[in-house]
Amino acid sequence: MNILILGSGGREHAFAYKLSQSKKVNQLFVAPGNAGTSKIATNVAINPVDFKAVKEIVLEKKIRMVVVGPEAPLVEGVHDFFLADDQLKDIPVIGPKKDGALLEGSKDFSKQFMLKHNIPTAQYQSFTNTTLKEGKAFLETLKAPYVLKADGLAAGKGVLILNSLEEAKKELEEMLTNEKFGEASSTVVIEEFLDGIELSVFVLTDGKSYKILPSAKDYKRIGEGDTGLNTGGMGAISPVPFANQDFLDKVEERIVKPTVNGLQKDGIDYRGFIFIGLMNINGNPFVIEYNVRMGDPETEAVLPRIESDLFDLFDGVAHQNLEEKSFSVTNKTATTVMLVSGGYPEAYEKSKEITGFEKIEDSIVFHAGTKIDTDKVVTNGGRVMAITSLGNSIEEALSTTYKNIDNISFEKMNYRKDIGFDLK
Ligand code: AMP
Ligand code: GLY
Repeated sequence: MNILILGSGGREHAFAYKLSQSKKVNQLFVAPGNAGTSKIATNVAINPVDFKAVKEIVLEKKIRMVVVGPEAPLVEGVHDFFLADDQLKDIPVIGPKKDGALLEGSKDFSKQFMLKHNIPTAQYQSFTNTTLKEGKAFLETLKAPYVLKADGLAAGKGVLILNSLEEAKKELEEMLTNEKFGEASSTVVIEEFLDGIELSVFVLTDGKSYKILPSAKDYKRIGEGDTGLNTGGMGAISPVPFANQDFLDKVEERIVKPTVNGLQKDGIDYRGFIFIGLMNINGNPFVIEYNVRMGDPETEAVLPRIESDLFDLFDGVAHQNLEEKSFSVTNKTATTVMLVSGGYPEAYEKSKEITGFEKIEDSIVFHAGTKIDTDKVVTNGGRVMAITSLGNSIEEALSTTYKNIDNISFEKMNYRKDIGFDLK
């Protein structure tokens, strides 16, 4: 079977890597892909939200399954587009339709969903510019720090955590009346601050049954010791040692089951990944957010631990027989460290030659912001590539990863040397 993966990051390279191991996968295409995916698949230079271009490629290349990496095509309705088209409607799309993608596309929707289905999360209220006064009054009833969230997609920047009430009121006004995050902040969710340790759990569902994929923790800040600006993610560890069986059982009973059942009850036929951002508060899980895709760089740590055929699992999602598919995960620990361009997440330069790939041993390199320039691999983004290793402990896996990083170089390369520091 021919498969098309939409996206261009480390997550999509990891999907391509896993799918290329399946005997049932014939030709693999990635749109638009990166230098890494071009070695194991065929890159097609189209924008994943240009659905007409996606259709042309699907028909031309006889694609029989589409796997969606990032959220934008899902929120914009790529799955609905396929179902509405006579030539595409029988081609399965791994990723929810617009109605399910609202779990990520609207914080207000996802909070209402959690409330309705009794899923533990922070207390909240939503406001618009006509209820700004009430919003400020609500802030006065809360204790610091204050959490303000733009309702819509804001490229991961729409959450503000503020220590003073005055600042919180000012930011609320900026978001609602000055559209600080554009249309995305025309509605703002104000919620209670959850004080605990964060982790993520990933679920793959066919709308009826589900598989719980390995847990992971990502490191979002640019600086060591979790300091400095937020990034797309600087590294990940899987599994998360503090997520023991007792905790994971609570996640399944209190969160995963009511989420999958809630979607079904609400008439949302959800086929794809659910990424559940969690806070562990004294051993009890609370949902911080849902995403309707896999995380990046979490995917680069999670997928190498899955021993089952990923295509087979996707086939189960497509045909709603996921329950019958075998699913196994190695006990080994995976550690992923992101190499980034100097300056990222602020301004950075591109087109720097990357060298040393041939010296990598016992690690997997997942490309993110890279491209081929004549016969060289050069940087093409802020997050350049992820180095993943498996080991019997976090220390062992990290030691392999960092040893290999010493062999890779490009001008102004930067990375965190303390991934997993809080878990060892
Ligand atoms: P989100 O975009 O919803 O993942 O939020 C970004 C980050 O803000 C999360 O990863 C958390 O670290 C933090 N955050 C979001 N909501 C809360 C909350 N209610 N309490 C504490 N931290 C939060
Ligand atoms: N690493 C966080 C995300 O993918 O949203």
